[in-house]
Amino acid sequence: MRFYGEAVLKLSKQPPRDFAEELKSLVEKLNKEVLLKGAKHPEDGARITSFVIKDDEIFFNMESGRAVPIHVAILRIKNNLAPILGRKYKIGIRSLLLKDVRIELDEEFSVGVEVPIVEKIETKEGQTVITLKPLEESLLQKPILQRLISLIEEKEQRKRWGGKIEHWQKIKESRKKRIIFKDDPNVILERIGWISNIAPGQWFFTPPFTYIFRKFEEMLIDIVLKPLGFVEAIFPKMEPIEIGLKTGHLKGTPNQMVFASLPISYNIEEFEAWQDYVSIYGEADLEFLQKFVEPPKYYLCFAQCPPFYRFLSKTIFTDKHLPLKWFDRSGPSFRWEGAGGLRGIERLVEFHRVEIVWLGTPEQVIEIRNRLLERYEYFMDKALDLEWRWAWVTPWFLVHAGETEEMKEEIDINQPGTIDFEAYLPYKGDREDHRNWLEIGNISIHGAKYTKAFRIRHAAEKTLWTGCSGFGIERWVLAFLAQKGFERDSWPETVRKYIRDIPRGLEASNYPRPQYFDLKKLIERRVGIKEHGE
Ligand code: SER
Ligand code: ZN
Repeated sequence: MRFYGEAVLKLSKQPPRDFAEELKSLVEKLNKEVLLKGAKHPEDGARITSFVIKDDEIFFNMESGRAVPIHVAILRIKNNLAPILGRKYKIGIRSLLLKDVRIELDEEFSVGVEVPIVEKIETKEGQTVITLKPLEESLLQKPILQRLISLIEEKEQRKRWGGKIEHWQKIKESRKKRIIFKDDPNVILERIGWISNIAPGQWFFTPPFTYIFRKFEEMLIDIVLKPLGFVEAIFPKMEPIEIGLKTGHLKGTPNQMVFASLPISYNIEEFEAWQDYVSIYGEADLEFLQKFVEPPKYYLCFAQCPPFYRFLSKTIFTDKHLPLKWFDRSGPSFRWEGAGGLRGIERLVEFHRVEIVWLGTPEQVIEIRNRLLERYEYFMDKALDLEWRWAWVTPWFLVHAGETEEMKEEIDINQPGTIDFEAYLPYKGDREDHRNWLEIGNISIHGAKYTKAFRIRHAAEKTLWTGCSGFGIERWVLAFLAQKGFERDSWPETVRKYIRDIPRGLEASNYPRPQYFDLKKLIERRVGIKEHGE
């Protein structure tokens, strides 16, 4: 990797001849010492190859290696010359510009980068040459060239990875269970009025469905979480943009996030034009509304665990405080799923999840994940009697964060990575077709990805890891109903113990639709609706 370019220092006035003389020896010193600092080999450092003074400008032709990228070199030059110019010659440095920057990389990259500083990227004969537009000093203060190179390397690696978000490998599965139901619960739930659609991917749950939903949450807590000592906390659901910047979601999944904006002011007088418009036209002109809201400073809960890391930011732990085992079920998550593919409660924009999080040493984090897996297995296999399977899905972000390697044939699950829990949906078709399985939850070890990003530390500098697991409530309920149907008598004993008297939902002359009223009555009888006043 080599950098080339020309730096221009603009001075407050033309320097005298004496300075021109002195500059020769200064450059020699810079080349021998200052520009080699931090480089193991001289070729990794930087060098001024030639220079010239024209009027009030000094031009440096420069070349550098990996250890002292060219923009770092020019700042060092400036910092060295500034005191000499100032004290001895009463000359100030007005500005600094780096132009004709060329970066040569010893590999052929086939990806582009869309940022304004890039002029072009060319590849030939095993090399990639990046040419940049002129860079002002404010940009040079940031590690901008290093970031540019890592971005190109990352995009290339990602392209080779196949554009996929994750690699899927089955690691465990239940035995085949007897299938007693083939219908689509999404359709039934809607017809009997237990769920009602209000917008794409958003549903209203009436009391009967809410009751079942809450019971699944309760079973998870009683059967999986409490025995392992997890305790409840409440995490905020509107997250400042800065959190997503640190976790990487803002970079990785901006296409799925729902952003939130504040009003331009608390002062209602500033909304007069808007109020007048709504009064007269009786409609919301959304483009006009944009004038009254700020750019989004927040996004709505997406991954659910990030506020936990943000909360722990800069906290210092000792052994006696660890591990930490919490869960949050305080509100919905939002994932915009694009226009297509939404279906009942299978794929939602607003969904509910119990998010389980833990923090500790790597050994603790792995141990907790393994205990959770045991309890989860008991829960899905015995308590719910589901047909399930688990897959090791190395998510791209962990590979990129350097927390894990691309998986070889032999899978070692005791390292950073994710396991997806999937359930078979008989209404969709054969179990052989992977599209007929639904991801209902996952469990991850993140390594030090988040503890590093949020500076969560151990007093003795021990490595700290985190883990999280998402339990998608709607999807667990759906998977259960899809496999077991609405006949309470054929449900496993644990579920019958929890779900006893389902409350009555809405009944009106047109709700649910009259043609489905018999279906509603039938299902209510089968699952045991609690009658009024009982
Ligand atoms: N935070 C994890 C996710 O978003 C688990 O819920 O998938
Ligand atoms: Zn999480």
